[in-house]
Amino acid sequence: MKVLQPKTTSHQLENYEATKENFDWNQVKEAFSWHKTGQVNLAYEAIDRHVNEGLGNKPALLYSDAERDETYTFRQLKDLSNQAGNMLKDLGVEKGDRVFIFMPRSPELYVSLLGTIKIGAVVGPLFEAFMKDAVKARLEDSESKVLVTTPDLLPRVPLDELPHLEKVVVVGNELPDGEKFVSYFDKMKAASKESAVEWVDLEDGLILHYTSGSTGKPKGVYHVHNSMLQHYQTAKWVLDLKEDDTYWCTADPGWVTGTSYGIFGPWLNGVTNVVRGGRFSPQDWYETLEKYKVTVWYSAPTAFRMLMAADPNIKEMYDLSSVRHILSVGEPLNPEVVRWGVEAFDRRIHDTWWMTETGAMLICNYPGEPIKPGSMGKPFPGVEAAIINDHGEELPPNEMGNLAVKAGWPSMMRKVWKNEEKFNEYFAIDGWYVSGDTAYRDEEGYFWFQGRNDDVINTAGERVGPFEIESKLVEHRAVAEAGVIGKPDPVRGHIIKAFISLRDGYTQDDELIDEIKQFIKKELSAHAMPREIEFKEKLPKTRSGKIMRRVLKAWELGEPVGDLSTMDD
Ligand code: WTA
Repeated sequence: MKVLQPKTTSHQLENYEATKENFDWNQVKEAFSWHKTGQVNLAYEAIDRHVNEGLGNKPALLYSDAERDETYTFRQLKDLSNQAGNMLKDLGVEKGDRVFIFMPRSPELYVSLLGTIKIGAVVGPLFEAFMKDAVKARLEDSESKVLVTTPDLLPRVPLDELPHLEKVVVVGNELPDGEKFVSYFDKMKAASKESAVEWVDLEDGLILHYTSGSTGKPKGVYHVHNSMLQHYQTAKWVLDLKEDDTYWCTADPGWVTGTSYGIFGPWLNGVTNVVRGGRFSPQDWYETLEKYKVTVWYSAPTAFRMLMAADPNIKEMYDLSSVRHILSVGEPLNPEVVRWGVEAFDRRIHDTWWMTETGAMLICNYPGEPIKPGSMGKPFPGVEAAIINDHGEELPPNEMGNLAVKAGWPSMMRKVWKNEEKFNEYFAIDGWYVSGDTAYRDEEGYFWFQGRNDDVINTAGERVGPFEIESKLVEHRAVAEAGVIGKPDPVRGHIIKAFISLRDGYTQDDELIDEIKQFIKKELSAHAMPREIEFKEKLPKTRSGKIMRRVLKAWELGEPVGDLSTMDD
């Protein structure tokens, strides 16, 4: 196997092996003002601190979409987030309350999110593609008090069914009738720029990201301010951010990458952050890299594969020479993609591994270190990762097992919201956080991803739970039973495939397939929509009535179905 050697070693992690030996998270604390003052707030550290240290005029946010093109300095973000915080306080939001934000990427999203964190409330970002049921499930579970959203998305918020939701801040020119609605722009204009910062404890709530498992409803993964230690340090050593970088993370803040590394990591390091609104197109992305002279770029395998599949002439139209460091997360990064990166950008793409639950990167490829294409890299200094069997015993090199991490890294989730049992399930094997991924480690300590050991589907880098889709499918009048699996796909990693048995009186045809797809798209979200539907007379089930997704998968892949002793005849 070819190992890709670095071209330069001008990175901040001077030597991985040496750093790993001497690393102590306590040293990272010195980077923050609370180390001296004892006063903690992540939003203060990410924005206000830089203004107080003389960086007020430095661009913090470079935002553009098809209609807007705006720059915000750290000072402007400080003022705006104070206003947003004061607005929320005025609406009755207190420390620990949940404020959800449901809108497409825009400066107002970033300002509202910072404002929420500033006042010690817990922010919950919701991806703009969510439809009514998905929105309701999350607002209901979190008992969100205030929601910030746009007029376009309002029809998907079932206000009457959400008794805890007291106010809806509408980011738009028109305000609907109703006591709960307030206008973002009016309230912001009236709000004071005086500091809205509430000091919190390092263990106080920061953010709730809902994510999917293989069973049950989406879980609220709860993170605390202490995470900033790891956001900051991984952004420094893995993203390799330096003062004069222009950084672009393509992820939406509805997902954890879009907050940990689309907001916290870069701004805690005082780095200029690019946000591009709107939808993906190769042209648009290359244009963004060129326009802002992006130096560090964090994206995902699906996006790289789409760029790879696009007409190579498109890329030739742009000057991409500013890009010095490229990284990837969210799905396995294929060796072909790493090779493409070298060809197309003369840069190695650095894979990173982590999860919503881990809050920040845990296993990474480091600038200045050799890369083995196809490997996720090595554990971050101060992180103890291992391959264990189901009894918690560490496995020798090259043996596949559970990818696990010793509990206690700074950005580890602290709760699953209102579900202690689910939280404890992650830590059931003594003191290990068990990720649900399978992997092996080679003799040199590099980790290699092998797959999930549950039914969670990773489609285009987005994590989807089959249960949520199956539950929705059976609400369709024609559907008797449904089982959902991920089917391998060259561009998206996996696509969602649904096996369906129909109720009596319905017949399978293209029209019905289309109707069922649209049903999921409308009720749940576009990314949860099965791209393929196959009808079956009966679905394989256990005697207790659980759909056996494992059998569906074997059918799909033409593999042996294995042990069927628990199957109902
Ligand atoms: C998968 C995204 C292979 C994995 C930050 C994990 C990866 C899940 C990689 C978490 C990688 C993430 N290589 N697979 N480098 N990074 N995954 O919570 O299965 O949306 O458990 O967090 O994505 O997805 P999540």
